[in-house]
Amino acid sequence: MKKIMLSLLAAMCMFGLTACGSTDSSSSSTADTSTPSQAGLQEAQEQQSATVTEAEQSDEEKTVPEQTEEQSQNTDTEASTGADTIIVYFSATGTTKGVAERIANVTNADIFELIPAEPYSDADLDWNDSSSRTTIEMNDPDVRPAIANDTVDLDSYTTVYIGYPIWWGDAPRMMSTFVEAHDFDGKTVIPFCTSGGSGIGRSGSNLASQAGSGNWLEGGRLDAGISESEIQDWINDMN
Ligand SMILES: Cc1cc2nc3c(=O)[nH]c(=O)nc-3n(C[C@H](O)[C@H](O)[C@H](O)COP(=O)(O)O)c2cc1C
Repeated sequence: MKKIMLSLLAAMCMFGLTACGSTDSSSSSTADTSTPSQAGLQEAQEQQSATVTEAEQSDEEKTVPEQTEEQSQNTDTEASTGADTIIVYFSATGTTKGVAERIANVTNADIFELIPAEPYSDADLDWNDSSSRTTIEMNDPDVRPAIANDTVDLDSYTTVYIGYPIWWGDAPRMMSTFVEAHDFDGKTVIPFCTSGGSGIGRSGSNLASQAGSGNWLEGGRLDAGISESEIQDWINDMN
């Protein structure tokens, strides 16, 4: 009888522990059902503390994670793959980026995204504001905004596509920074742009005279949603 009582007592203890565990998991499920902003905040805090931990590492301790093929495609800054064509582009809000990536697919080209040293904020891009950064830059043809990552070496390429959004009927001044820093001698250069509706206008020929070298084609404005087969037709029409 004493044995039975002891076994019963042991079973009750086990149940108590399990109940305790289930209380814990219910408290974590309470966290799961918290408001999205709380969950987002928690995630952001976790990310932040991970970043701090990484920043606290000494230089020797830091290891550069190997880029996967997918990551390197996402950053559009692939090392040369032996292709004879490269697409170099700037995109403030992603439209030109999408078109540039489709051109790269169609032409089997390398692709390189130019990043401004000082990123453009929404306020910077406000064309309704006469004192916004872009309005000021586009009003001054001599401004040359710095590029954060112009490490591109054009030597091995025979064809260079240069893409950008149209700003006030022209290429963003940062594209002038780019073309003035490179030698296009012996290369075919094809400017292309996206826009709210304006054509490529004189933006390509302006860049050509700033570059001072290269065989610049007229290029053209491409629709944000242009398909790869339409891009192929556009390329065929240029030849
Ligand atoms: C400052 C600024 C000026 C612009 N000026 C023009 C313009 O003159 N004509 C036009 O059709 N679109 C104009 N746009 C619209 C952009 O050309 C268009 O949205 C483009 O596709 C954006 O490309 P992205 O997403 O690669 O930056 C302007 C946009 C900005 C931010």
